[in-house]
Amino acid sequence: ISMASKKPDDDNIPKQTLEPFVNPMQTYFDKHLTTFSKMVRAMPCNTIMVDTLENYHEKHMAFPCRDTDIWVTAFPKAGTTWMQEMVWLMIRGLNHKDGDKPLMSRFPFFEWDALIPPKYDAAMALLPAGNVERRGEQWKLLDSPVNPRLIKSQMHRALLPSGLTKLKSKIIYVVRDPRDVMISLYYHTIKMLDYSGDFDHFVKIFLDDLYEWGPFWNHVLGYWNRRHQDNILFVRYEDLQKDLKGSINKVAAFLGVTVTTAQVATMTERLSFEFMRNNPATNNQEIMKGLAKDSDIKFMRKGIIGDHMNHLSEAQILQFTKWTEKWLKDTDFPYYKY
Ligand code: A3P
Repeated sequence: ISMASKKPDDDNIPKQTLEPFVNPMQTYFDKHLTTFSKMVRAMPCNTIMVDTLENYHEKHMAFPCRDTDIWVTAFPKAGTTWMQEMVWLMIRGLNHKDGDKPLMSRFPFFEWDALIPPKYDAAMALLPAGNVERRGEQWKLLDSPVNPRLIKSQMHRALLPSGLTKLKSKIIYVVRDPRDVMISLYYHTIKMLDYSGDFDHFVKIFLDDLYEWGPFWNHVLGYWNRRHQDNILFVRYEDLQKDLKGSINKVAAFLGVTVTTAQVATMTERLSFEFMRNNPATNNQEIMKGLAKDSDIKFMRKGIIGDHMNHLSEAQILQFTKWTEKWLKDTDFPYYKY
Protein backbone atom coordinates (compact mmCIF):
# COMPACT_ATOMS: atom_id res chain seq x y z
CA ILE A 1 0.00 0.00 0.00
CA SER A 2 1.52 3.32 -0.99
CA MET A 3 1.54 6.42 1.16
CA ALA A 4 -0.97 8.02 -1.16
CA SER A 5 -3.64 5.53 -0.28
CA LYS A 6 -3.27 6.05 3.43
CA LYS A 7 -6.55 6.73 5.13
CA PRO A 8 -8.08 6.70 8.59
CA ASP A 9 -8.67 3.38 10.22
CA ASP A 10 -12.02 2.86 8.56
CA ASP A 11 -11.82 -0.85 7.80
CA ASN A 12 -14.86 -2.76 8.69
CA ILE A 13 -14.26 -4.36 12.03
CA PRO A 14 -17.01 -6.89 12.65
CA LYS A 15 -19.09 -6.76 15.80
CA GLN A 16 -17.51 -8.92 18.49
CA THR A 17 -19.36 -11.51 20.51
CA LEU A 18 -18.14 -12.74 23.89
CA GLU A 19 -18.28 -16.50 24.17
CA PRO A 20 -17.48 -18.81 27.06
CA PHE A 21 -13.87 -19.95 26.89
CA VAL A 22 -12.89 -23.53 27.63
CA ASN A 23 -9.44 -23.39 29.18
CA PRO A 24 -7.45 -26.61 28.78
CA MET A 25 -5.42 -25.64 31.85
CA GLN A 26 -8.45 -24.70 33.94
CA THR A 27 -7.42 -26.80 36.94
CA TYR A 28 -4.03 -25.12 37.04
CA PHE A 29 -5.58 -21.66 36.75
CA ASP A 30 -8.07 -22.45 39.52
CA LYS A 31 -5.17 -23.25 41.76
CA HIS A 32 -2.52 -20.73 40.75
CA LEU A 33 -4.06 -17.92 38.78
CA THR A 34 -7.46 -17.37 40.28
CA THR A 35 -7.67 -13.69 39.29
CA PHE A 36 -8.42 -14.77 35.78
CA SER A 37 -9.48 -18.32 36.07
CA LYS A 38 -12.77 -17.36 34.42
CA MET A 39 -12.34 -16.04 30.92
CA VAL A 40 -14.38 -15.26 27.83
CA ARG A 41 -13.31 -15.21 24.21
CA ALA A 42 -14.18 -12.34 21.92
CA MET A 43 -14.99 -13.56 18.43
CA PRO A 44 -14.21 -13.22 15.58
CA CYS A 45 -11.12 -11.34 16.78
CA ASN A 46 -10.19 -14.38 18.87
CA THR A 47 -9.06 -12.68 22.06
CA ILE A 48 -9.37 -14.03 25.58
CA MET A 49 -10.13 -11.70 28.44
CA VAL A 50 -11.36 -11.96 32.01
CA ASP A 51 -15.08 -12.68 32.13
CA THR A 52 -15.77 -9.37 33.90
CA LEU A 53 -15.36 -7.77 30.47
CA GLU A 54 -18.92 -8.96 29.82
CA ASN A 55 -20.27 -6.19 32.04
CA TYR A 56 -18.42 -3.52 30.09
CA HIS A 57 -18.04 -4.63 26.49
CA GLU A 58 -21.14 -2.83 25.14
CA LYS A 59 -20.20 0.31 27.03
CA HIS A 60 -16.70 0.14 25.59
CA MET A 61 -17.94 -0.21 22.03
CA ALA A 62 -20.34 2.71 22.44
CA PHE A 63 -17.71 5.02 24.01
CA PRO A 64 -18.00 8.49 22.43
CA CYS A 65 -14.73 8.95 20.56
CA ARG A 66 -13.35 12.29 19.48
CA ASP A 67 -11.28 13.03 16.40
CA THR A 68 -8.58 14.46 18.62
CA ASP A 69 -8.19 11.42 20.90
CA ILE A 70 -4.75 9.85 21.16
CA TRP A 71 -4.63 6.18 22.14
CA VAL A 72 -1.56 4.38 23.43
CA THR A 73 -2.04 0.65 23.08
CA ALA A 74 0.15 -2.40 23.58
CA PHE A 75 0.12 -5.94 24.82
CA PRO A 76 0.70 -5.67 28.59
CA LYS A 77 4.41 -5.26 29.45
CA ALA A 78 5.48 -4.22 25.97
CA GLY A 79 6.29 -0.65 27.02
CA THR A 80 2.90 0.99 27.42
CA THR A 81 3.92 3.17 30.36
CA TRP A 82 7.04 4.36 28.61
CA MET A 83 5.05 5.49 25.58
CA GLN A 84 2.34 7.03 27.77
CA GLU A 85 4.86 9.21 29.53
CA MET A 86 6.42 10.25 26.22
CA VAL A 87 3.08 11.21 24.73
CA TRP A 88 2.00 12.98 27.89
CA LEU A 89 5.16 15.11 28.03
CA MET A 90 4.82 15.92 24.37
CA ILE A 91 1.17 16.91 24.48
CA ARG A 92 0.79 18.46 27.93
CA GLY A 93 4.26 19.97 28.04
CA LEU A 94 7.40 19.60 30.09
CA ASN A 95 6.38 22.19 32.65
CA HIS A 96 2.78 21.14 33.19
CA LYS A 97 1.65 21.33 36.82
CA ASP A 98 0.33 17.75 36.78
CA GLY A 99 3.64 16.22 35.68
CA ASP A 100 4.26 14.76 39.14
CA LYS A 101 0.87 13.07 39.44
CA PRO A 102 0.63 9.30 38.98
CA LEU A 103 0.13 8.33 35.37
CA MET A 104 -3.25 6.77 36.03
CA SER A 105 -4.64 10.15 37.01
CA ARG A 106 -3.21 11.87 33.92
CA PHE A 107 -3.67 9.19 31.31
CA PRO A 108 -6.81 7.11 31.92
CA PHE A 109 -6.80 3.35 31.39
CA PHE A 110 -9.80 2.61 29.20
CA GLU A 111 -10.76 -0.91 30.35
CA TRP A 112 -9.60 -0.66 33.96
CA ASP A 113 -13.05 -1.20 35.46
CA ALA A 114 -13.56 -4.32 33.39
CA LEU A 115 -10.42 -5.84 34.87
CA ILE A 116 -11.18 -5.46 38.55
CA PRO A 117 -11.62 -8.95 39.99
CA PRO A 118 -14.72 -9.22 42.16
CA LYS A 119 -12.49 -10.30 45.05
CA TYR A 120 -10.98 -6.80 45.11
CA ASP A 121 -14.33 -5.05 45.45
CA ALA A 122 -14.31 -4.87 49.23
CA ALA A 123 -10.77 -3.51 49.37
CA MET A 124 -11.58 -1.07 46.56
CA ALA A 125 -14.45 0.35 48.55
CA LEU A 126 -11.99 1.26 51.29
CA LEU A 127 -9.86 3.41 48.99
CA PRO A 128 -10.41 7.12 49.59
CA ALA A 129 -13.17 8.78 47.55
CA GLY A 130 -11.75 10.11 44.31
CA ASN A 131 -8.91 7.55 44.25
CA VAL A 132 -8.44 6.99 40.53
CA GLU A 133 -8.43 3.21 40.87
CA ARG A 134 -11.98 3.06 42.17
CA ARG A 135 -14.61 1.77 39.82
CA GLY A 136 -15.87 4.56 37.57
CA GLU A 137 -13.02 7.00 38.23
CA GLN A 138 -11.08 6.26 35.03
CA TRP A 139 -14.13 6.98 32.94
CA LYS A 140 -14.74 10.20 34.85
CA LEU A 141 -11.28 11.26 33.71
CA LEU A 142 -12.16 10.22 30.17
CA ASP A 143 -15.12 12.55 30.29
CA SER A 144 -12.75 15.52 30.42
CA PRO A 145 -13.47 18.47 28.12
CA VAL A 146 -9.74 18.94 27.59
CA ASN A 147 -8.57 17.88 24.14
CA PRO A 148 -6.71 15.93 23.04
CA ARG A 149 -7.66 13.18 25.44
CA LEU A 150 -4.89 10.68 26.11
CA ILE A 151 -6.18 7.13 26.53
CA LYS A 152 -4.41 3.89 27.41
CA SER A 153 -5.67 0.47 26.37
CA GLN A 154 -4.16 -3.00 26.30
CA MET A 155 -6.91 -4.53 24.24
CA HIS A 156 -6.96 -6.04 20.79
CA ARG A 157 -7.82 -3.46 18.11
CA ALA A 158 -11.24 -5.03 17.52
CA LEU A 159 -12.26 -4.40 21.15
CA LEU A 160 -11.72 -0.66 20.99
CA PRO A 161 -14.82 1.55 20.52
CA SER A 162 -16.60 1.24 17.21
CA GLY A 163 -16.51 5.03 16.82
CA LEU A 164 -12.75 4.86 16.36
CA THR A 165 -13.05 3.43 12.88
CA LYS A 166 -14.59 6.49 11.29
CA LEU A 167 -12.57 9.09 13.12
CA LYS A 168 -9.08 10.43 12.83
CA SER A 169 -8.18 9.62 16.42
CA LYS A 170 -4.58 8.46 16.58
CA ILE A 171 -3.30 5.15 17.85
CA ILE A 172 0.30 4.47 18.88
CA TYR A 173 0.97 0.77 19.28
CA VAL A 174 4.07 -0.52 21.07
CA VAL A 175 5.38 -3.99 20.30
CA ARG A 176 8.20 -5.85 22.07
CA ASP A 177 10.01 -9.15 21.70
CA PRO A 178 7.44 -11.61 23.08
CA ARG A 179 10.12 -13.46 25.03
CA ASP A 180 10.90 -10.31 27.01
CA VAL A 181 7.21 -9.49 27.27
CA MET A 182 6.65 -12.92 28.77
CA ILE A 183 9.40 -12.51 31.37
CA SER A 184 8.08 -9.11 32.36
CA LEU A 185 4.56 -10.52 32.46
CA TYR A 186 5.68 -13.37 34.69
CA TYR A 187 6.88 -10.97 37.39
CA HIS A 188 3.90 -8.71 36.87
CA THR A 189 1.53 -11.65 37.30
CA ILE A 190 3.19 -12.63 40.57
CA LYS A 191 3.09 -9.08 41.85
CA MET A 192 -0.32 -7.93 40.70
CA LEU A 193 -2.30 -11.11 40.17
CA ASP A 194 -0.99 -13.38 42.90
CA TYR A 195 0.33 -16.02 40.51
CA SER A 196 1.52 -18.92 42.65
CA GLY A 197 2.52 -21.38 39.94
CA ASP A 198 6.02 -21.99 38.65
CA PHE A 199 8.00 -20.44 35.83
CA ASP A 200 7.78 -23.37 33.41
CA HIS A 201 4.01 -23.50 33.67
CA PHE A 202 3.91 -19.79 33.06
CA VAL A 203 5.90 -20.21 29.85
CA LYS A 204 3.45 -22.90 28.80
CA ILE A 205 0.46 -20.68 29.55
CA PHE A 206 1.96 -17.95 27.38
CA LEU A 207 2.98 -20.20 24.49
CA ASP A 208 -0.35 -22.05 24.53
CA ASP A 209 -1.95 -18.61 24.11
CA LEU A 210 -3.85 -18.92 27.37
CA TYR A 211 -2.77 -15.64 28.93
CA GLU A 212 -5.56 -13.05 28.98
CA TRP A 213 -5.36 -10.36 26.25
CA GLY A 214 -3.87 -12.93 23.90
CA PRO A 215 -3.06 -14.73 21.73
CA PHE A 216 -0.04 -12.41 21.70
CA TRP A 217 0.59 -12.52 17.93
CA ASN A 218 -3.05 -12.05 17.16
CA HIS A 219 -2.94 -8.87 19.26
CA VAL A 220 0.13 -7.60 17.40
CA LEU A 221 -1.22 -8.44 13.97
CA GLY A 222 -4.53 -6.74 14.75
CA TYR A 223 -2.60 -3.46 14.78
CA TRP A 224 0.20 -4.37 12.36
CA ASN A 225 -2.25 -5.16 9.59
CA ARG A 226 -3.60 -1.62 9.90
CA ARG A 227 -0.27 0.16 10.15
CA HIS A 228 -0.61 1.69 6.68
CA GLN A 229 -3.52 3.76 7.82
CA ASP A 230 -2.41 7.21 8.68
CA ASN A 231 -3.84 7.15 12.18
CA ILE A 232 -1.75 4.22 13.42
CA LEU A 233 1.90 4.37 14.42
CA PHE A 234 3.73 1.16 15.17
CA VAL A 235 6.69 1.51 17.55
CA ARG A 236 9.12 -1.15 18.76
CA TYR A 237 10.26 -1.23 22.38
CA GLU A 238 13.72 -2.11 21.08
CA ASP A 239 13.79 1.08 18.99
CA LEU A 240 12.88 3.13 22.05
CA GLN A 241 15.89 1.52 23.71
CA LYS A 242 18.29 1.94 20.83
CA ASP A 243 17.28 5.38 19.65
CA LEU A 244 15.10 7.21 22.11
CA LYS A 245 15.74 10.60 20.50
CA GLY A 246 14.79 9.30 17.08
CA SER A 247 11.68 7.69 18.53
CA ILE A 248 10.66 10.93 20.22
CA ASN A 249 10.98 12.74 16.90
CA LYS A 250 9.01 10.06 15.11
CA VAL A 251 6.18 10.16 17.63
CA ALA A 252 6.17 13.98 17.59
CA ALA A 253 5.92 14.00 13.79
CA PHE A 254 3.05 11.52 13.92
CA LEU A 255 1.20 13.63 16.46
CA GLY A 256 1.94 16.83 14.60
CA VAL A 257 3.82 18.32 17.55
CA THR A 258 6.89 20.51 17.09
CA VAL A 259 9.69 19.73 19.52
CA THR A 260 12.88 21.71 19.85
CA THR A 261 16.29 20.08 20.27
CA ALA A 262 16.34 21.26 23.88
CA GLN A 263 12.92 19.73 24.54
CA VAL A 264 14.00 16.44 23.01
CA ALA A 265 17.06 16.44 25.26
CA THR A 266 14.94 17.03 28.37
CA MET A 267 12.46 14.38 27.30
CA THR A 268 15.25 11.86 26.73
CA GLU A 269 16.34 12.45 30.28
CA ARG A 270 12.86 12.20 31.78
CA LEU A 271 12.14 9.04 29.81
CA SER A 272 15.25 7.19 30.86
CA PHE A 273 14.71 4.02 32.86
CA GLU A 274 16.52 5.46 35.87
CA PHE A 275 14.50 8.65 35.89
CA MET A 276 11.19 6.87 35.48
CA ARG A 277 12.06 4.30 38.11
CA ASN A 278 12.84 6.98 40.65
CA ASN A 279 9.82 9.04 39.69
CA PRO A 280 6.71 8.17 41.75
CA ALA A 281 4.60 9.63 38.95
CA THR A 282 5.73 6.90 36.55
CA ASN A 283 6.96 3.95 38.59
CA ASN A 284 3.42 2.88 39.47
CA GLN A 285 4.41 2.23 43.05
CA GLU A 286 0.97 3.14 44.35
CA ILE A 287 -1.08 1.06 41.91
CA MET A 288 -2.90 -1.79 43.57
CA LYS A 289 -1.43 -0.85 46.93
CA GLY A 290 -3.53 -2.55 49.54
CA LEU A 291 -5.17 -4.64 46.83
CA ALA A 292 -2.51 -6.93 45.44
CA LYS A 293 -0.01 -8.87 47.48
CA ASP A 294 2.92 -6.67 48.44
CA SER A 295 6.05 -8.05 46.85
CA ASP A 296 9.57 -6.85 46.24
CA ILE A 297 9.02 -6.86 42.50
CA LYS A 298 9.07 -3.33 41.13
CA PHE A 299 6.94 -2.19 38.23
CA MET A 300 10.02 -0.58 36.69
CA ARG A 301 11.84 -3.86 36.97
CA LYS A 302 14.85 -4.13 34.65
CA GLY A 303 14.01 -2.24 31.48
CA ILE A 304 16.41 -4.08 29.21
CA ILE A 305 16.40 -5.95 25.90
CA GLY A 306 16.93 -9.69 26.13
CA ASP A 307 16.19 -10.49 29.78
CA HIS A 308 14.68 -13.74 28.51
CA MET A 309 18.25 -14.99 27.99
CA ASN A 310 18.60 -15.05 31.78
CA HIS A 311 15.47 -17.11 32.21
CA LEU A 312 14.59 -19.37 29.29
CA SER A 313 16.13 -22.76 28.59
CA GLU A 314 17.31 -23.57 25.08
CA ALA A 315 14.29 -25.81 24.63
CA GLN A 316 11.96 -22.97 25.64
CA ILE A 317 13.66 -20.56 23.24
CA LEU A 318 13.12 -23.09 20.49
CA GLN A 319 9.46 -23.35 21.46
CA PHE A 320 9.18 -19.58 21.15
CA THR A 321 10.73 -19.72 17.68
CA LYS A 322 8.31 -22.40 16.52
CA TRP A 323 5.33 -20.62 18.01
CA THR A 324 6.40 -17.40 16.28
CA GLU A 325 6.86 -19.17 12.95
CA LYS A 326 3.42 -20.73 13.25
CA TRP A 327 1.71 -17.41 13.91
CA LEU A 328 3.67 -15.36 11.39
CA LYS A 329 3.71 -17.89 8.56
CA ASP A 330 1.44 -16.04 6.17
CA THR A 331 2.14 -12.52 7.31
CA ASP A 332 4.59 -9.80 6.37
CA PHE A 333 5.53 -9.11 9.99
CA PRO A 334 9.34 -8.84 9.90
CA TYR A 335 10.52 -8.76 13.51
CA TYR A 336 11.38 -11.28 16.24
CA LYS A 337 11.68 -14.28 13.93
CA TYR A 338 14.83 -15.68 15.50
P1 A3P B 1 10.62 -5.14 32.50
O1 A3P B 1 9.70 -5.88 33.42
O2 A3P B 1 11.26 -6.04 31.48
O3 A3P B 1 11.63 -4.33 33.23
P2 A3P B 1 4.13 -1.83 30.45
O4 A3P B 1 4.23 -0.39 30.75
O5 A3P B 1 3.58 -2.14 29.09
O6 A3P B 1 3.48 -2.59 31.53
O7 A3P B 1 5.64 -2.39 30.34
C1 A3P B 1 6.46 -2.48 31.46
C2 A3P B 1 7.87 -2.81 31.01
O8 A3P B 1 8.45 -1.67 30.36
C3 A3P B 1 8.78 -3.18 32.16
O9 A3P B 1 9.73 -4.13 31.62
C4 A3P B 1 9.42 -1.83 32.46
O10 A3P B 1 10.61 -1.90 33.18
C5 A3P B 1 9.65 -1.32 31.03
N1 A3P B 1 9.89 0.12 30.99
C6 A3P B 1 9.09 1.11 31.43
N2 A3P B 1 9.67 2.30 31.27
C7 A3P B 1 10.88 2.08 30.72
C8 A3P B 1 11.99 2.92 30.34
N3 A3P B 1 11.93 4.23 30.52
N4 A3P B 1 13.07 2.32 29.80
C9 A3P B 1 13.12 0.99 29.63
N5 A3P B 1 12.14 0.15 29.97
C10 A3P B 1 11.02 0.69 30.52
